[in-house]
Amino acid sequence: MTGKVLLVAGARPNYMKIAPLWWAMRERGDERFVPVLVHTGQHYDDRMSAAFFRDLGLPEPHINLGVGSGSHAAQTAKVMTGFEQVLLAERPDVVVVVGDVNSTAACALVTSKIDLGGNGRPVRPVLVHVEAGLRSRDRDMPEEVNRVVADALSDVLFTTCRDAADNLTREGLPRERIRFVGNPMIDSLRRCLAAADRCGFLERVGLQERGFGLCTLHRPSNVDHPEVLERVLDALAEIAADAPVLLPLHPRTRERIARFGLGERVASLARPGRGAPKRGLVGVEPLSYLEMLQAMRAAAFVLTDSGGIQEETTALGVPCVTLRENTERPVTVTEGTNVLAGPGPLADALGAARRKAAGGARVPELWDGHAGERIVAALAEASP
Ligand code: UD1
Repeated sequence: MTGKVLLVAGARPNYMKIAPLWWAMRERGDERFVPVLVHTGQHYDDRMSAAFFRDLGLPEPHINLGVGSGSHAAQTAKVMTGFEQVLLAERPDVVVVVGDVNSTAACALVTSKIDLGGNGRPVRPVLVHVEAGLRSRDRDMPEEVNRVVADALSDVLFTTCRDAADNLTREGLPRERIRFVGNPMIDSLRRCLAAADRCGFLERVGLQERGFGLCTLHRPSNVDHPEVLERVLDALAEIAADAPVLLPLHPRTRERIARFGLGERVASLARPGRGAPKRGLVGVEPLSYLEMLQAMRAAAFVLTDSGGIQEETTALGVPCVTLRENTERPVTVTEGTNVLAGPGPLADALGAARRKAAGGARVPELWDGHAGERIVAALAEASP
């Protein structure tokens, strides 16, 4: 499976998953691979997109579909029509989709139905899904639908943890398609940690190592309904009574906080020279990748509804409470530092996460910084 390989990214959590494949193909110097970076443009603000390409040392995407925001159907449809043209023009041998965003499912669908043959015998690229087999079993999550679609259609399924294969075989996917390679997101983390430590973000905002908590919040289930968002912010305020909790604001969350009139619950960062607040929720604009890594590594604890951050905190050994009822990444709970918030007080869950991080937690198998190399080696091996 060599030749021209389209590496598809659409939204913020995708970039750290394609970067290790780009590095492995370029650094391996294997001329049989011609990687092409395709950005669908699902995320487009500098701080949701280009800043990450810079931090990861990726070139600008070779192709950007510029689809922008929209309803699920509108966004998915725009990606599909745009990506169809890309496939017809580029005629790739392999298409790699990663993660579980709308662009992942959209590009998987188009790839699995394209015909590049034109002579009566269908010819289509090999479809590869990286981070296959994660399941929350919550079909109300748009990401769960995207995962099921991408996995069902893919020819090759690369998994980040052992339990993913069982999820896939239970859905009827043949074992021969599945390969456990470890977690490419942790490749990016390991590669960028030293640069993150030097990025100066914490100094700029006046926060001390272990002197603050870090929170991210963007799931529709947490931020789209006024009463739910109010309840979540109240629970966070209790935790932030003793120490500041830094809250980088996703555009969706910022908009909902303003629309629901909840703005007074989130302080903005004190102006430079005034020092950071001593307590309370402190809203800041979305962080770049290096800023986020530095903040995550230095935080006393993390509260999040993100998928990737559950994995990154486990790799870093930082206590993490996931502000959701379920997780598609159970290995971060059974082995790592992650605890699901549950119905009880947030402080109890945080106590449990702190105890895990203090002893007993470990980094899951093959989260060792070499998943990208294993994926590229597996693709090369499968070639005639
Ligand atoms: C998407 C992914 C989610 C991922 C998240 C990470 C899907 C279904 N969801 O959710 O899995 O965890 O990205 O951030 O694919 N916006 C901007 N600038 C941007 C991008 C978005 O202002 O660069 C605003 C727009 O108002 C948009 C809203 O954010 O309507 C939501 O963006 P969207 O891509 O639809 O979903 P996310 O919540 O970001």
